[in-house]
Amino acid sequence: MPRKIVAKRKSVSTGDRLLLASRDRVKTVDCPAWQPPRGSLLGIEFLTEKQIVEYLDLARRMESVLRRGSTLLKGKRVVLLFYEASTRTRVSFELAAKALGATTTIITASASSIEKGESLIDTGYTLRALGGDLIVMRHPSSGAHWTLARHLNLPLVNAGDGMHEHPSQALLDAFTMLKHKRMLRGLRVTIIGDVFHSRVARSNTFLLSKLGGEVTLCGPPDMVPDAAAKLADGVRVVHSLQEGITGADVVMLLRIQKERFVGRRTSFEQYVADYQMTAERLQGAKPDTIVMHPGPIIRGVELTAEVADMPRSVIREQVHSGIPIRMGILARALGKA
Ligand code: CP
Repeated sequence: MPRKIVAKRKSVSTGDRLLLASRDRVKTVDCPAWQPPRGSLLGIEFLTEKQIVEYLDLARRMESVLRRGSTLLKGKRVVLLFYEASTRTRVSFELAAKALGATTTIITASASSIEKGESLIDTGYTLRALGGDLIVMRHPSSGAHWTLARHLNLPLVNAGDGMHEHPSQALLDAFTMLKHKRMLRGLRVTIIGDVFHSRVARSNTFLLSKLGGEVTLCGPPDMVPDAAAKLADGVRVVHSLQEGITGADVVMLLRIQKERFVGRRTSFEQYVADYQMTAERLQGAKPDTIVMHPGPIIRGVELTAEVADMPRSVIREQVHSGIPIRMGILARALGKA
């Protein structure tokens, strides 16, 4: 029997309901009757701890494959379908596919028949008819991947869906953390910024919680509502930056989008004044606390240029981790690992 999905939430505010809404939508497909096409990676939320560890182990192996080159995916066609702008994710999926010998095609909304009104599902059918073996997709709507996956018997990899998930980002973040910290179990990770809108925050929270990390979500109440603590087990919400960074092993900053402050209680200027990461504020953290950011970074907004470039910033290393992580994801999706 499919699970009952919608819980009673009489006491939950509209903002909180929005924050949790994407989880509910995803749960509607988390039933025994439906599974995404084999090899797909749609999100972290429904992966097991074992599956996450397998992706991280696979990336470790892919680092040496990257050095010596490979033809593991020779003859395979990887389609990169990007309805939203991207630099890191798109390029690293492309380089990852090429490092394994696959061919790649990039489709963006502005230079394809998507502009003429072709639907997501018809675009998917077209790409399958053209011989695509795998689709890596970024889409502005939360849950778009689940819709496409129901219609297309092709492995599908989520490169970011709206406010929902960005699973490969969370995997590469965990991979980067493990290069600096012994293990994720017990690791204290503070994520600072607009958690409400952040697919990166959501995927990282799911992943770290499953692997025993201690997640703190930090920001003003309209960006980090108290309901965010319900995202996963052991998640803490704080609104004071000082409290958020004290004792943290990892401080992860999120990109701040000025246009999202319209109609909010917190102004953009107030956010920068209260939450921008500066070298002085970082002195309140431990000496070995590392600074992370999924990118793109906006110097002078969520962090200063000094913080972005300091030795404890691992931001560029995160970008590099994207290649072995995405090599592993592609190889697994195509049944080669
Ligand atoms: N981190 C991330 O998703 O960056 P891009 O938008 O450049 O892909």
